[in-house]
Amino acid sequence: MHPHMKEILLDEQQIKERVLQLGQQITRDYQGQNILMVGILKGAMIFLADLVRNIDVPTSFDFMAVSSYGAGAVSSGAVRILKDLDKSIDGRHVIIVEDIVDTGLTLQYLVENMKARGPASLKICTLLDKPSRRKVDVPVDYNGFSIPDEFVVGYGLDYNERYRNLPYIAVLKPEIYRS
Ligand code: XMP
Ligand code: MG
Repeated sequence: MHPHMKEILLDEQQIKERVLQLGQQITRDYQGQNILMVGILKGAMIFLADLVRNIDVPTSFDFMAVSSYGAGAVSSGAVRILKDLDKSIDGRHVIIVEDIVDTGLTLQYLVENMKARGPASLKICTLLDKPSRRKVDVPVDYNGFSIPDEFVVGYGLDYNERYRNLPYIAVLKPEIYRS
């Protein structure tokens, strides 16, 4: 384990098995349709890459990058688009792919923003959910794991852009983000 980690919450095998299940579930739900997966950069990148390889219906993907206004780790709900989608999603079956839903404010914004672009359908897939922190109700259609309220990194998730490459999801030692 990386020395900055307190404990491993989800190991490689657990993630792999759950991502396979999610891919199979999505494959069943979208029989006969074409999917457009919209990955939210950068955190969802690793998850999306593994997920799409477990989906067996025609699938394209696009990306959006957003940042919340305001300092620190606290989400304010005001979202700025850093990178928009490359193409129109009008008439497409869209699945938003997120790394983690925390307060739900980022997703709430993304859902409203994308609904306005006229997709045929819109669903949400997140690897992780911290339900205890929710401030607004967002309809999560596919959830990998519900986790306790601890700051986690790895498998795409970062602290100050670090640890995204760890193959597992772990709780960061508090002294690392205090220092
Ligand atoms: P909201 O609160 O809008 O925020 O649902 C979701 C975004 O907050 C970030 N976030 C985390 N990032 N470890 C991280 O690396 C965490 O434990 C964590 N909790 C929230 C993340 O960017 C997510 O998209
Ligand atoms: Mg982040």
